[in-house]
Amino acid sequence: MKKQIAVLPGDGIGPEIIQEAVKVLDAVADKFGHEFAYTYADMGAIAIDKTGEPLPAATLKASLESDAVLFGAIGDPKYDNDPTAKVRPEQGLLAIRKALGLFTNIRPVKTFDALLHQSPLKEERVKGTDFVMYRELTSGIYFGEKTLSEDQNTASDLCEYTRAEIERIGRLAFAAARKRRNVVTLIDKANVLESSRLWRRVVTELHKSEFSDVELRFLFVDNAAMQMILAPSQFDVLLTSNLFGDIISDEGSVIGGSIGLLPSASVGETHALFEPIHGSFPQGAGKGIANPIAMILSAAMMLTHFDMDTEAKAITEAVDLALAQKVCTPEVFPENKYTTSQVGDFIAKNIA
Ligand code: IPM
Ligand code: MN
Repeated sequence: MKKQIAVLPGDGIGPEIIQEAVKVLDAVADKFGHEFAYTYADMGAIAIDKTGEPLPAATLKASLESDAVLFGAIGDPKYDNDPTAKVRPEQGLLAIRKALGLFTNIRPVKTFDALLHQSPLKEERVKGTDFVMYRELTSGIYFGEKTLSEDQNTASDLCEYTRAEIERIGRLAFAAARKRRNVVTLIDKANVLESSRLWRRVVTELHKSEFSDVELRFLFVDNAAMQMILAPSQFDVLLTSNLFGDIISDEGSVIGGSIGLLPSASVGETHALFEPIHGSFPQGAGKGIANPIAMILSAAMMLTHFDMDTEAKAITEAVDLALAQKVCTPEVFPENKYTTSQVGDFIAKNIA
């Protein structure tokens, strides 16, 4: 099969980890007789430095014309402490999500047995954790009207959702549950927020009309944050709005022991983008210590999206083998000192 992939390395460790993902994809192409063609483009701080814009038109064009987008990481500390900055790297990511219509962000959180000792939580609590987050990605408070008063002393962000926006991600979450343990938990703040009450009403109706075979549960977001620490293995599919999903998924991402292991997929009707959950880790850039596994597993999610299930499995098995043999970067196995590219080499070699 021939696939056109837009590769956006982005900032910080992005370029290093994406290089390993491409290495692994090339091994897959060789082994299974596919042809992957890559178009590289800039997004984020690097794009601002070169063009003044976080999402240059050429990057958007390459992404729109691709079968999928592979994205590294975004963000640079020089913008973080400057609230007056007019252009920010993150705007590039938000803009591409919107432009590609990527309304659902899928973040699987699965613990690796070899790494349980690394978890900040007690092993017996974490063991068996295997859930997937369905986070709404192109609406809500991220994209609602923003205001800042003339005197700059009052500001607001509107959180608005429509029935259609809730239904389309709801369908994906219920369908995913059917292929898993058949439970969807809606996370909201329906005791306070009108927009959350709409989520509850729409998801309940959708459940009744199309997915009554799936179990539907509800959890307020504050309680969900607590349950995530107390008993993360209780969850199967989590469904939630944009900001709640952003927060809860970061919380969920560390319970397996390293944020450097978790991939994500952002999908819409016509396009899809694959990126690790973690950020650009600027302090680690250029040192060969960045864990490429989340990025490599994001590439595996891309292959699943292409209906290349066997190929995706070849990657996940090679990753499992790497972890079982303690071939990983120092934040996971400090004693072994594998570099970013050595981890990529090991995984690519085991696919070949
Ligand atoms: C994420 C990130 C982004 C978000 C930022 C970089 C805009 O934190 O993908 O979770 O908040 O969505
Ligand atoms: Mn986030």
